[in-house]
Amino acid sequence: MFTEKEKVIAVIYDAARYMTENELTAADIHEKTSAADLVTVYDVKVQETLIAAFRSLFPNAEFFAEEKKDNRLTDALTFIIDPIDGTANFVAGLRHSAISVGILQEKKPLAGFIYDPYQDELFYAVRGEGAFLRHGGKEKPITVCRHPFPVSLVGFGTDPYHKENTPLLAALVKLCIHRFADMRRAGAATLDLAYVAAGRLDIFFETGLSPWDYAAGRILVEEAGGSCTRFSGEEVNYERCSILAGGAEIVKEFKENLLPEAEKQSGIKVTI
Ligand code: IPD
Repeated sequence: MFTEKEKVIAVIYDAARYMTENELTAADIHEKTSAADLVTVYDVKVQETLIAAFRSLFPNAEFFAEEKKDNRLTDALTFIIDPIDGTANFVAGLRHSAISVGILQEKKPLAGFIYDPYQDELFYAVRGEGAFLRHGGKEKPITVCRHPFPVSLVGFGTDPYHKENTPLLAALVKLCIHRFADMRRAGAATLDLAYVAAGRLDIFFETGLSPWDYAAGRILVEEAGGSCTRFSGEEVNYERCSILAGGAEIVKEFKENLLPEAEKQSGIKVTI
């Protein structure tokens, strides 16, 4: 049970002003592990704002966050935070990025919040209470979709910092384009997962994601009636792992037919 959702939402709405009210300059952008892996001063500001506010509301909580070095998961109430998911979109001015907050207790998902300030769309779920989309002062329940395969839309991520998986991705893309209606690569995994929960995408996959990319999305998809696991079907482990999310039928088709064929064609098997 998690009764403090409105407090969490208010903190997220407040921190989002750093995404919408600032002009980025070159001096605000820094490289992390590579030229493609960026962080801005606003990622850090959003993260600091969230952690300071959550710490005063939940003094015993722990924090596991993208721009924080000493991340360690314990049984405590833990906030897993991606301050700006879709940093590359943010830097490019693409206005498709989100704040993502997943809350775990004893390493089990309790609640998840994904907020896109550009669309003013908040996707959230609390364990056992369903998944919801709040927009323009209104709220509605959301569920995963069950379209027939020929009209299904597939979202995917390119695992851009681990390019050794690209041949498998290329094989999957080819197979998905033939099997389903079409594909989308929008650049913010948290929103891809929120869109699966909201029935905008039928399925989403990426060969590797970090816990802050999927912690909130996992509970959203599950509470919306779908599954969010590793490619193998095993539970996510809150380390970097592969992610496959969607409704039962399309996930089964991906896992039993498309993935084995793509592994055969590319010679690559994702084991995380
Ligand atoms: C990235 C985005 C992207 C996904 C990458 C993530 P970041 O997160 O979600 O869509 O393909 O794997 O790392 O770096 O923008 O927070």
